[in-house]
Amino acid sequence: MGTDPAVVLEVRGLRAYLYTRWGVVRAVDGVSFALREGETLGLVGESGCGKTMTGLSIVRLLPEPAGRIVEGQVLLEGEDLVTKSEAEMRRVRGRRVSMILQDPQTSLNPVFTIGDQILEALRLHHPDGESSLAARAEEALRRVKVAAPEQRMRAYPHQMSGGMKQRVVGAIAVAGEPLVLIADEPTTALDVTIQLQYLALLKEIQARTRLAMLFITHDFGIVARMCDRVAVMYAGRIVETGPTRALFRAPRHPYTEALMASVPRMEGSVARLPSIEGQPPPLHDLPTGCRFADRCAYVDDRCRREYPPTMPVGPAHEAACWRIEPSPPSR
Ligand SMILES: Nc1ncnc2c1ncn2[C@@H]1O[C@H](COP(=O)(O)OP(=O)(O)O)[C@@H](O)[C@H]1O
Ligand SMILES: [Mg+2]
Repeated sequence: MGTDPAVVLEVRGLRAYLYTRWGVVRAVDGVSFALREGETLGLVGESGCGKTMTGLSIVRLLPEPAGRIVEGQVLLEGEDLVTKSEAEMRRVRGRRVSMILQDPQTSLNPVFTIGDQILEALRLHHPDGESSLAARAEEALRRVKVAAPEQRMRAYPHQMSGGMKQRVVGAIAVAGEPLVLIADEPTTALDVTIQLQYLALLKEIQARTRLAMLFITHDFGIVARMCDRVAVMYAGRIVETGPTRALFRAPRHPYTEALMASVPRMEGSVARLPSIEGQPPPLHDLPTGCRFADRCAYVDDRCRREYPPTMPVGPAHEAACWRIEPSPPSR
C-alpha cells in the first residue's frame, strides 16, 4: 500500500481521543485507510461513531483543548501531518487538504461578504497578484455554478439560501486546488433536489482535478451515487472496507449487513441509514471484545472476549469479524 504512487492520503493506526469530564472518549481508535488520486472513499456509520473526528484529525482541527491525536500517522503524499506544527498545517489546509463541514453556517463568517471570504481564501493560495484576485474569485463562484457571481460577491451569508451557501463553501474549499477534499455530510442541511445538484457538482470538480475525496455520510443512497469504495465505521473503528459494488452485493461484517438489510432499494430515491436495534457502546467505556457484540445476531463468547482481526474477504475487500474463515492463500 505504501508503494502505490496513486495513494495521496494514507491514514495509519490513527487514534484521536477526547479528554472530557466523563472520561476519555476514544472517538477514533485505530483507523487505517488509503485514498487514491481521483477516487471517492465513503466513510459511513451511525451518528457518534467517530466519522467527523476522523476528518478533523486529518486536518488537525480537533476540538480544543479536549481533542488530541495520541497515535498513528496521517501521510499526505508520504509526509506525516501528525507531527507538523500549526504554522505548517496552515500551509497544508486549503492548499493540499480541504474540508467541507456539514453546516455551511459554521464555515462562513456572518459579518463579511461572500466576496471578502473567497478573496481571503484566494490570498492564501496566491500571495502575489492582488489585482487578479477579484477575477479569480468570480471564476471560483462560476465554477460552483453560482449565477451572477459579480453581484453575489457583495452579498452577506444571511442573504443566501442554504444551497447557495454550501456552494460558496465548496468554492472556498477547492479554490486552492487541494489534492484531498474531506466532505463531512455536506448535503445534510440541503433539500433533496439541491442535494443532488451539489453532489453532481462535486463529481464534476473531481473529474476535472483528479481530486481524492473522503466522503463522510450516513446516507447509503449517497454512497451508491458517489463512492468508489466504502469504509464502514463503528464505535471508533473501521469494521469493513471494500469496493462499493462488492460491499452492497455481499456485505461481510454483521454491522454492514444489518445496515444494508434495512436500506430500501436504491432506485433513484435517497435512502437513509436505517436504525438498528440497540445502541453503540459509549466511546468512553468500550468493551474489550467486538464492539458490535451486544447488537449482533451471531454473537458468541469469543466475540465478547477478543476484538476480531481484520481479514481479507475479496479483492480489496476486508472485514473484522470472527465469523470470517481465513481463506486459503491465493495462487
Ligand atoms: N467537542 C467534543 N467534546 C467531547 N466529545 C465530543 C466532542 N465532539 C464530539 N464528541 C464525541 O466524539 C464522538 C465521535 O463523534 P463524531 O466524530 O462527531 O461522530 P460522527 O461524525 O460519526 O457522528 C462522539 O461520542 C461524540 O459524543
Ligand atoms: Mg459527524
